Amino acid sequence: MSLDFNKMDSSSRPKLYDFHGVAMTDIFTANWENVQNFQARPDDILIATYPKAGTTWVSQILDMLYFGQMSPERLKTLPIYERVPFLEMMIPNVVTGTDQADKLPTTPRLIKTHLPVQFVPKSFWEQNCRIIYVARNAKDNMVSYYHFDCMNLVQPAAGDWKSFFQRFMEGKVVFGSWYDHVNGWWKKKQTHSNIHYMFYEDMIEDTGREIDKLCNFVGLSPSVEEKEKVRSEVQFDSMKKNKMANYSTLPVMDFKVSPFMRKGKVGDWKNHFTVAQNEEFEEDYKRKMTDPTLQLRWEI
Ligand code: A3P
Repeated sequence: MSLDFNKMDSSSRPKLYDFHGVAMTDIFTANWENVQNFQARPDDILIATYPKAGTTWVSQILDMLYFGQMSPERLKTLPIYERVPFLEMMIPNVVTGTDQADKLPTTPRLIKTHLPVQFVPKSFWEQNCRIIYVARNAKDNMVSYYHFDCMNLVQPAAGDWKSFFQRFMEGKVVFGSWYDHVNGWWKKKQTHSNIHYMFYEDMIEDTGREIDKLCNFVGLSPSVEEKEKVRSEVQFDSMKKNKMANYSTLPVMDFKVSPFMRKGKVGDWKNHFTVAQNEEFEEDYKRKMTDPTLQLRWEI
């Protein structure tokens, strides 16, 4: 079985199904045994997010902080999905995230995952790896995910906005419920100091401050100049233009439908939600977001 990227259209979009209580597609479950048996190393850094929460942004920051000085060529020649492998991803006969991670020549290895916390391979906990979790407010996350499913041929078709809105609230999108994801990781963070839980909105508010916190967490102390270079090169407009960070090299994404680096803003939900949808959403949100700190974190 091999996926011919060039022949993919909406009729060959993958199907969503229930996988141990979480909506998933084959691409993320076909290599499950290798994912679960993945051997993490103590200095690995896992970047964990719900899809569309700012994964690429934080990946690019960490990759620049670690390797920008030492091997600038790497940043200029390798796309982000090769520098930071996607652990659970498998394109049959093409690539698996576990293989890519095993072959990474760099130390530390930066590894990306969208797994809900209960699915993270146990070696990451046994090795006490540092884990960076990025959360984004549900409404903007939903909007970003909708556009992503419209343009990404290896995701289930988004359908129209109205039906996507319902499916997102029901957790019937790849990697399941946003609510379970952010709540599950938040709960884990309360007992695990190896998790740095950060927010997309904080990154937008003050990228430099969040880079400082990241450096503290991973134990890096770049010079003021280095930090400023990273901060300026990871601004939205720079990353949008950067072919090694903007996914334009990946043939499964149809940039005529939407770019990967779409808007990069807080509050774009206001351009999508109707008044009635907003009311329905907020009522449902309050029921699902029972942790007061996390519920109040976002002014929705
Ligand atoms: P939008 O679709 O709202 O624009 P992920 O990397 O987890 O898939 O997240 C993608 C989202 O993060 C997209 O959101 C993308 O534009 C945004 N993003 C990526 N890099 C960014 C940056 N440097 N600044 C702000 N937002 C960024």
